[in-house]
Amino acid sequence: DDPEREAGFQAHIDAEKRVEPRDWMPERYRKFMIRQISQHAHSEYVGMLPEGNWITRAPTLRRKAALLAKIQDEAGHAAYLYSAAETLGASRDQMLEDLHSGKAKYSSIFNYPALTWADIGAIGWLVDGAAIVNQVALCRTSYGPYARAMVRICKEESFHQRQGFEIMTTLAHGAPEQKAMAQDALDRWWWPSLMMFGPHDSDSPNSEISFRWKVKRQSNDELRQKFVDMTVAQAEFLGLKIPDDDLKWNEARGHYDFGRIDWDEFWRVVKGNGLCNRDRLRNRREAYENGAWVREAALAHAEKKRARAGR
Ligand code: 3HC
Repeated sequence: DDPEREAGFQAHIDAEKRVEPRDWMPERYRKFMIRQISQHAHSEYVGMLPEGNWITRAPTLRRKAALLAKIQDEAGHAAYLYSAAETLGASRDQMLEDLHSGKAKYSSIFNYPALTWADIGAIGWLVDGAAIVNQVALCRTSYGPYARAMVRICKEESFHQRQGFEIMTTLAHGAPEQKAMAQDALDRWWWPSLMMFGPHDSDSPNSEISFRWKVKRQSNDELRQKFVDMTVAQAEFLGLKIPDDDLKWNEARGHYDFGRIDWDEFWRVVKGNGLCNRDRLRNRREAYENGAWVREAALAHAEKKRARAGR
């Protein structure tokens, strides 16, 4: 480490300047950003799976087209983010190897099953809704390529959230069986969506350095609170009940108080023992193996093009 250059780096950050790939940066910052960006990319990449099951089961052609578009967007978000991590020197093959081997983290939320069509609505409404709250804050993160990827991703996520909320509205204002499906999906996705924001600030080991380097702009609990406050009114519009008897408006705080999150469940899922963790990783490994011929063909084609151009 080089204290003088580190001080210069911190002054750059404190002056609200972006860090770009060619800038000098402490090795710890580089590793910290590869950690967060690669996990974010893995989350988008695994995040396609719960919804993939429902493409052939979508109730109408319009719903199928919207779901296909959303899943393709997520593949694109993963590609942006793997590329952003590569600007820090990370190897895409190594990142994917770490995901497939179970070594890498990705958002716990994607280890829950999508059991009914209403889950596709709840995922768009709650999971993408929570992701937007987190990602809007990340548009101001200090690492340039990551911040710019967030701006593009947030635009596409708002469509994801809206198509989910529209599905929930159709169901919640539909037949009693449809409304029951929507309530069942809210019951199963509410608490795991709150866990997407990470542990409480008091249990968030990365937060201190994340704030110092302006990677994180708002804390896990602040963003979680913002998500709860904005979602309660949406649930009321749907006529659905949020599964938390402690949820209550606190006039003094100007926010909703809510119940205790089950952190045992959170860490069980993060450590690989959620309902679908093994399924998700097996699916990702199979997709990677089945796609090897496409990668080989693309590389062979690129080689021929280079040879023809005489380079
Ligand atoms: N799932 C899995 N791991 C989680 C987690 C979650 N929901 N929340 C926290 N963790 C992990 C952290 O990665 C960290 O482990 P690590 O040190 O090995 O990386 C540990 O738990 C402690 O958490 P911290 O609060 O100390 O970690 P951070 O300061 O990094 O905060 C975070 C966690 C808020 C998730 C932050 O990493 C972040 O903002 N990441 C980028 C956003 C992201 O990954 N979003 C995931 C959803 S993407 C998505 O939803 C796709 C959309 O299309 C639906």
